[in-house]
Amino acid sequence: MMRQVSVLNFVSSAEGLPTKILVELERILESAIEDDSFIGEACMPLLKGGKRLRPILFLLCSRAGGADRHEKLLPLAAAIELIHTASLVHDDILDASKVRRGVSTANAKYGAQAAVLIGDYLFAKAFQFVAEGNYGDEAAAILSRLVRDLCIGEIKQDRSLFVIPTLAEYYERITLKTAIFLSSSCRLGALTAGLDRATVEAMTGYGMSLGLAFQITDDLLDFFGDEKLTGKRLGGDLKSGVITLPILRALDS
Ligand code: IPE
Ligand code: IPE
Ligand code: MG
Ligand code: MG
Repeated sequence: MMRQVSVLNFVSSAEGLPTKILVELERILESAIEDDSFIGEACMPLLKGGKRLRPILFLLCSRAGGADRHEKLLPLAAAIELIHTASLVHDDILDASKVRRGVSTANAKYGAQAAVLIGDYLFAKAFQFVAEGNYGDEAAAILSRLVRDLCIGEIKQDRSLFVIPTLAEYYERITLKTAIFLSSSCRLGALTAGLDRATVEAMTGYGMSLGLAFQITDDLLDFFGDEKLTGKRLGGDLKSGVITLPILRALDS
C-alpha cells in the first residue's frame, strides 16, 4: 500500500498525471482478477505493489501528444501492467524467487504448476482487454511482439545459466527481456495520441534507452539494493546463474 501511494504521489506531483487516472487504473486492474476466487486471492497481493512504470510511460506519452481520452486508454494501460505482472509471475518460477513486490511469489505460495496457470490467466486477461477495447491491429501486434521478445530473452538467459556472456550477448538479452517492453509502452502512447511518425520513433527510442538503463540498474540493485525498497531478495541473479553487467565489469578489471 505504501509503495502504491508513493507512485501516485510521484506521478501526480512530478509528471502532472492526475491522481484520479491512476486510481481508476487500479480499479480496472482489480476488476481483471474478479473472475475466479482463487485467482483473486492469489493475484491481489501481487498486483498491489508494483511501480506501474510501463502503464505510466504509456499514459504520459499519450498525454504528451494531447490525447486526453483516458476512459478509452485506461484498459490498454491496464493490459500493459497485466502483461508485465504475468511475465513476473513466470520469471519468478524460472528464477526460483520467493519474494516479489514485498510479498510471497505465486510459486513460493502455490507451487510452480499453479503459478504457470496464474501467469497464463493474467496474459489472457490482458489480451481480452485489448480485444474488447478495439485499439486496432497495430496495438495488438506491438503487444504480441513484445511478449514474444520477452520470452526469447528469458529463454536465452535460461539456456545459458552459469555461462559468462559477452557484452553483446548481455545487451541483446536485456533488450529483449526488458527494453523492448518499455519502448513498446512509449510507442503505444505516441501512436494512440496520433503523433507524427518522427515523434513516434523518438518516443520509441527514448523507451528503449530507458529500458536498458532500467535493467542495468535492476541488475546492480540485485547486488547493492535494499530489500525493503526493491521488494525482492538480493543476490538472486548470481545464485541462479544469471551473469549480469556488474560481474562482467568485475571480471574485466
Ligand atoms: C521488474 O520490473 C522486472 C524488470 C524488468 C527489472 P519493475 O521493477 O518495473 O517491477 P514492478 O512492477 O515495480 O514490481
Ligand atoms: C527481468 O529480469 C524479468 C522480466 C523481464 C520478466 P529479472 O529477472 O532481473 O527481474 P527481477 O529482478 O526478477 O524483477
Ligand atoms: Mg527474476
Ligand atoms: Mg533482477
